[in-house]
Amino acid sequence: MSFVIAVDGPAASGKGTVASGLARELGLPHLDSGLLYRAVGRALQVAGGDPDDAAAATETARRLDPHDLEDPALRTREAGEAASRVAVHAGVRAALLDFQHAFAAQEPGAVIDGRDIGTVIAPDAPAKLFVTASPEVRAHRRWLQLKDQGVSLDEILADIALRDERDSARSTAPLVQAKDAVLLDTSEMTIEQAADAARRIVEAARARWETSLKGEA
Ligand code: CDP
Ligand code: CDP
Repeated sequence: MSFVIAVDGPAASGKGTVASGLARELGLPHLDSGLLYRAVGRALQVAGGDPDDAAAATETARRLDPHDLEDPALRTREAGEAASRVAVHAGVRAALLDFQHAFAAQEPGAVIDGRDIGTVIAPDAPAKLFVTASPEVRAHRRWLQLKDQGVSLDEILADIALRDERDSARSTAPLVQAKDAVLLDTSEMTIEQAADAARRIVEAARARWETSLKGEA
């Protein structure tokens, strides 16, 4: 069985930073699953399609090469907005399942961050974190990343509120903390403090997982 670390949370909570830090320290592959949805949204936009059109978005997701997620345009504000619109369609989510399941099944393990990793993609993951921060802190962090694109803090705050609402309200795989996920609120934490806290949570989860494997043997 592989040691999967599921890291979920809302936009700009710091989940990607936590996930990539854990992956680096543990020598595990890391998948930022948000890039899959961003790639679908972006491909649809480039083709002049409508992200709210379920059939077109599903077709785009089926044709996506999930190994090709390097385009810097995937990190823009527009791609984030398009991602959250295509992500509501059940067909889009279904088309992206196989790749994520295969990623999670790698030995000796994997770190995946997103919205539904601990609930839908890897419900049996031995380690689950739900990373969050206040909307104001998240907006400020995202604004620091995007301000060169000429966007104001208020616009980012509004984007984040809309995205939180869309991600939490959708019927398929909504953003929700898994019952067995440990909450990590990074509002008052530096990157180093969040990384330390995440490391402790994962060490405890790993010890429990190893004990349970011994019990099964
Ligand atoms: O980095 P940030 O949290 O802003 O966004 P992201 O993780 O790149 O995700 C962009 C959008 O993709 C989210 O707002 C979700 O609508 C969607 N998403 C999802 O539905 N499920 C995931 N596992 C990951 C992202
Ligand atoms: O993946 P997600 O959208 O949740 O957030 P991220 O990309 O990990 O973090 C968003 C920004 O906040 C990055 O520029 C991080 O360096 C920064 N950050 C921070 O300032 N303090 C933290 N505790 C975590 C992240």
